[in-house]
Amino acid sequence: MTADPTSPQPPAHEPTASEPTASAPAWAERDFTHRELPGGLIMRRARTSDVTAIRRLVQPMVDARILVAKEAVNYFEGLHEFRLVTDPHADGGERVVGCAALHVLWEDLAEARTVATDPDYRGRGVGRMLMEQLLADAQAIGVQRVFCLTFETRFFTSLGFEQITGTPVSPEVYVELLHSHDENVAEFLDLARVKPNTLGNTRMMKHL
Ligand SMILES: CC(C)(COP(=O)(O)OP(=O)(O)OC[C@H]1O[C@@H](n2cnc3c(N)ncnc32)[C@H](O)[C@@H]1OP(=O)(O)O)[C@@H](O)C(=O)NCCC(=O)NCCS
Repeated sequence: MTADPTSPQPPAHEPTASEPTASAPAWAERDFTHRELPGGLIMRRARTSDVTAIRRLVQPMVDARILVAKEAVNYFEGLHEFRLVTDPHADGGERVVGCAALHVLWEDLAEARTVATDPDYRGRGVGRMLMEQLLADAQAIGVQRVFCLTFETRFFTSLGFEQITGTPVSPEVYVELLHSHDENVAEFLDLARVKPNTLGNTRMMKHL
């Protein structure tokens, strides 16, 4: 018996979110931010299994007091803030080669933090692509100003950041932010106890 061509046909099989495809792992289909970059690199959200690699990437910069030291638990707590660039073709498998996190501070204000590129991958636009994504993320959620505390003034200037002085929030918001236990917020507030860490850093802001 032949099938009746006029009868309704079952839909063509489409892989579900849990089924791997040839080009991407299964979880990538659930990450709508997963995208390919020039040079065969990938930008995507961080996953819990990336924390070890993120910490390995930033540790030398923490040791050099370029980035703020954090406990492992802080990376898990802030995981959803991270965008990563990975090299899927690296020796030994996918390697995290860049990271950046957007931490919301207040209604109109967020901080770009833990912006780091693996030294082997610097000068190839990884940092810029991460920051452009972070700024788009900020705009999408209603943030109007992005702050950063950095030695990399040329890099951030090229992204439209400008040097600022002081802490650009009202006295009322300043008092509210004092309730935070976050070390970066203490740095943002320029509290005396973090002054030794911030020596030589430039405070920068971009208006979106
Ligand atoms: C800041 C940092 C993230 C930049 O990372 P990066 O991936 O090298 O950044 P990019 O490649 O996008 O840009 C860096 C420079 O390379 C240049 N560049 C970008 N693409 C390039 C390319 N294809 N070829 C040559 N140069 C290129 C950029 O013009 C930029 O030059 P500039 O510094 O004069 O503006 C990196 O230096 C770093 O990890 N620093 C330590 C951590 C830190 O201080 N973070 C900031 C505070 S959170």
